[in-house]
Amino acid sequence: MHDQAQRLRTMVAQANRSSAGRDTRVITISSGKGGVGKSNFTLNYALALADQGKKVVILDADVGFANIDVLMGVKPKLTLAELIRKQVTVWDILETGPMGIKFIAGGSGFQDLLDLQPEQFDYLIEQLGLLQGYADYVLIDTGAGLTAQSLRLILAADDIFVVLTPEPTSITDAYALIKMVINREPNARMKLLVNRAQSNEEGREAADKIKLVAERFLNLQIPILGILPDDPNVLRSVKKQVPFYIAHPETVASRSLKQLIQAQLHGEAEQDTSPKGMKQFLHRMARLFR
Ligand SMILES: Nc1ncnc2c1ncn2[C@@H]1O[C@H](COP(=O)(O)OP(=O)(O)OP(=O)(O)O)[C@@H](O)[C@H]1O
Ligand SMILES: [Mg+2]
Repeated sequence: MHDQAQRLRTMVAQANRSSAGRDTRVITISSGKGGVGKSNFTLNYALALADQGKKVVILDADVGFANIDVLMGVKPKLTLAELIRKQVTVWDILETGPMGIKFIAGGSGFQDLLDLQPEQFDYLIEQLGLLQGYADYVLIDTGAGLTAQSLRLILAADDIFVVLTPEPTSITDAYALIKMVINREPNARMKLLVNRAQSNEEGREAADKIKLVAERFLNLQIPILGILPDDPNVLRSVKKQVPFYIAHPETVASRSLKQLIQAQLHGEAEQDTSPKGMKQFLHRMARLFR
């Protein structure tokens, strides 16, 4: 155990030294209730960021269930499973998707990152650490519900996007997730993304319900990242296995996403000076898995 802690410290020190280039921001996309549109959001958000000249890597952490690769009709040659077996490096499993985005497929053959042997886990952390400076964003798509594994990925990220729909069950489950995260990590930076809203008002009402209870009971301010409309072209794109941002660039979902990103990048350029990046992610992962 002592050796392992030492190895992790060395890795973090290495990541700190390799801080030339850009800071890589790690965002975990999560939800209380499943099926609210996390994977579709993650993929199309990545494409919309690429459209703005950003370099993005998606990490499909919903291991055991192929998701992101199916949504874009790409069959990955190698996955996290091969990485964890230490057969390959992170550069070998980095697949290329449309518009130059990169992704790491979840793979099957292991159930949970928590089941890994210490040296497998160290290797995973070390390899993910190599992405520092390579990409502007690493987006981590998690599976439905809160497993111990997804909670750790959530807690280690710079930003946590909590995706919900305006359905009451989705709202209460999102609040339950927020409460659990903030109990574990009082400094967690969460943002609300309301998906499948019938109107902007409906989306805002759903977000406001959460904002209000979070303020009152958790003394927490949660900003709204954005509201995305319910759009029949999303399902059409899923069936075609072509992301909606590419298959239907002019549909309402694509246009809303574009606006959301432009507003976000504008806001980041203006005020965001908080510490962030893959380096912090590695620190926190190492701490949380111990
Ligand atoms: N904006 C939208 N408008 C209409 N339908 C949508 C929208 N977003 C998602 N959907 C529908 O919801 C389905 C589930 O989406 P997705 O797989 O992205 O959810 P998820 O949260 O990743 O699910 P899981 O929790 O199982 O990982 C899609 O196949 C699509 O039919
Ligand atoms: Mg999903």
